[in-house]
Amino acid sequence: MKQDRRGFILGAFTGIGAAGVLYAMKRTWDPLPSVQHAGVTTIELSDIKENELMIYKWRGKPIFVLKKTPDIVAKQSANDLARDIIVGEDHYILCIGLCTHLGCIPAYRESQHIFLCACHGAEYDASAINIKAPAPFPMLIPPFEVKGTHLTIGKEGTAYAKMKKAEVLGLKILDSTI
Ligand code: FES
Repeated sequence: MKQDRRGFILGAFTGIGAAGVLYAMKRTWDPLPSVQHAGVTTIELSDIKENELMIYKWRGKPIFVLKKTPDIVAKQSANDLARDIIVGEDHYILCIGLCTHLGCIPAYRESQHIFLCACHGAEYDASAINIKAPAPFPMLIPPFEVKGTHLTIGKEGTAYAKMKKAEVLGLKILDSTI
């Protein structure tokens, strides 16, 4: 009788453990809340704080969104600003968060307003433009569309088309690289 009880308790714990593992696996596989459907990620820009790097996911890649401070904007060149998504008075930079040297994920240094890649020391400014070797070109801007304060990654809107025409996406042949 005692043996049966022990067996029952052990079975119950095993069942709970298995359910926990399945739940954890499901959470890992589930798309992030920002992902609406395959191939498209939507982001609410008004939720983003200044100088705080936000990282999302799009087609398996890390996506950086940074809201620049007015101070950063004031110090930047026309080249830098040409990569901005401007909503009202606010400037955002959007890019695929992969170093253009060998693909590591750079970190954002809030105090210096730069991205630093720890793998081989490349640096990018707040517009994700390479400022220190060995990064060969800026971090890439993925296709996007802006409607009000909603940013959709994976769709080509008018602001994206303008950047593409101005050749500021990071690489001229961007379309064939993502
Ligand atoms: S992968 Fe970033 S510097 Fe080499």
